[in-house]
Amino acid sequence: MKIFLDSADINEIKELCKTNLIDGITTNPSLIAKSGGNILDVIKEICGLVSGPVSAEVTAINHKDMMMEAEKLLNLAENVTIKVPLTSDGLLTCKELSKNNVSVNVTLCFSSSQAILAAKAGATFISPFVGRLDDIGQNGLDLIYDIVEIYNNYNYKTQVLVASIRGVNHVIESAKIGADVVTIPTKTFKEMFNHPLTDKGLKAFLSDWQDTGQSIL
Ligand code: G3P
Repeated sequence: MKIFLDSADINEIKELCKTNLIDGITTNPSLIAKSGGNILDVIKEICGLVSGPVSAEVTAINHKDMMMEAEKLLNLAENVTIKVPLTSDGLLTCKELSKNNVSVNVTLCFSSSQAILAAKAGATFISPFVGRLDDIGQNGLDLIYDIVEIYNNYNYKTQVLVASIRGVNHVIESAKIGADVVTIPTKTFKEMFNHPLTDKGLKAFLSDWQDTGQSIL
């Protein structure tokens, strides 16, 4: 399973990319707004920090303007993935871009029917939002299970990119279901490293080692 970072914060991205465990980045208009930077500058800088795909979202709502925005974003770097909303115009844009071998991430997916349409439009990634479904009392992970099953039934090539992740459990369950990618906030990525028994075990090993008086170097 690939791990993308859901962030437009340059410092965070720089720090976490040092782990060599980040396969790509996703951004959205809210994250760009939070970064305080100009979208074109921010996306260009992020693209220079990672070799994997960087999702940059269009903000137009009609197909023609989406295509013009996509062209501008694609000129920034070779690893730009165009993110479009799951609307009729978004899927028209997806179809046209994917025909030209442009990588497209279809976002704001909340149902299996939407995911089927995105696959038929040639999306490279579909982004179902698990956390926001949980927030309204549904089980977001049920949607991931359904989409993975449907895509497998028809051998759709569209990758399931689980978004709106709220914690480590969402990551683990997505992996068990067989999702292709998770995009996670920095906090969740850092939490993935942690286990109290790791800390306790390391402390004991280091203490025993110190008692030997040895040194490997
Ligand atoms: O980038 C899309 C998605 O990950 C947003 O997450 O936490 O705003 O629901 P969230």
